[in-house]
Amino acid sequence: MHSMTSPDVLAPAKLGPLTLRNRVIKAATYEGLSHKARVTQDLIDFHVGYAAGGVGMTTVAYCAVAREGRTDRHQILWTDEAMPGLRRLTEAVHAHGAAVSAQIGHGGPVASPKGNGLPALSPTKHFHATSLSWAREASVADLTGITEAHAEAARRAIDAGFDAVEVHLGHNYPASSFLSPKINHRTDGYGGSPGEPCPLRTRDHARRP
Ligand SMILES: Cc1cc2nc3c(=O)[nH]c(=O)nc-3n(C[C@H](O)[C@H](O)[C@H](O)COP(=O)(O)O)c2cc1C
Repeated sequence: MHSMTSPDVLAPAKLGPLTLRNRVIKAATYEGLSHKARVTQDLIDFHVGYAAGGVGMTTVAYCAVAREGRTDRHQILWTDEAMPGLRRLTEAVHAHGAAVSAQIGHGGPVASPKGNGLPALSPTKHFHATSLSWAREASVADLTGITEAHAEAARRAIDAGFDAVEVHLGHNYPASSFLSPKINHRTDGYGGSPGEPCPLRTRDHARRP
């Protein structure tokens, strides 16, 4: 018996324009199965396992939107070279009737400067306890670049056959680090409190048609 207030987990469900065969979604868990920023057969087999097991949708974790945003140097990047493997993965999952989502993200201050060979980017200069290194303050140009890189990753996810995109906003990544008064000491439009006027954002909006 199911009441109106308790949906059937195993019945088809709508998620935006998608219809999933059930409400079970495999969460993003970076498994370390990508290699040199590309999909491996092990990663395909891992997701096919969930699809064959009956999930409505599986999520391919850590598809980095930019080289300096990776928390591990083997994480998938949306390069031309990665696309054939990503297409093979989405086709293999679809063959088992499941949908497949790409989790796109940028590690910001949490990224690995040693693995990436590039400094990590933070709202303000910040020493990161996991990587034991400094993340430098992101410029406005860096932040515009990160925003555009998310849009490009989403476009590429569509090209690779993904049904959905999940944006990683947790774990002290850029979105959550900008909300943290401990990491964000900026005085420009990307700093301050939510209630305060945001000159940068107002200017950006004014420029848009
Ligand atoms: C090994 C491992 C890797 C993870 N990698 C990611 C990741 O890449 N992206 C993400 O959003 N969450 C990641 N998580 C968090 C999980 O998606 C999930 O939110 C967490 O395990 C808590 O889920 P639960 O409340 O259902 O136990 C990871 C968790 C584990 C254990």
